[in-house]
Amino acid sequence: MKNTITICMGSSCFARGNRENLEQVETYLHANRIAAEVGLVGCRCRGECGRGPNIEFNGILHHQVDSGTLLDLLEYYFANVTIEA
Ligand code: FES
Repeated sequence: MKNTITICMGSSCFARGNRENLEQVETYLHANRIAAEVGLVGCRCRGECGRGPNIEFNGILHHQVDSGTLLDLLEYYFANVTIEA
């Protein structure tokens, strides 16, 4: 799958905001009907806790992702994703 989101579910990132970020990602994917087109997985601590919460989009790791940044990232990476027939 070429479109992927990997959310760090380590305790630090989870406490710093990835709990809420996960909900926001799921809501975004379902609202835009692209949940089947974007792979969503969690990962363990990546050793970048001090820069968290961390989320990887299409292989690129982003740091300090808050809810506003997250929406911008989702739009940047996935606004053009279309539902495959
Ligand atoms: S908990 Fe996310 S990098 Fe450590």
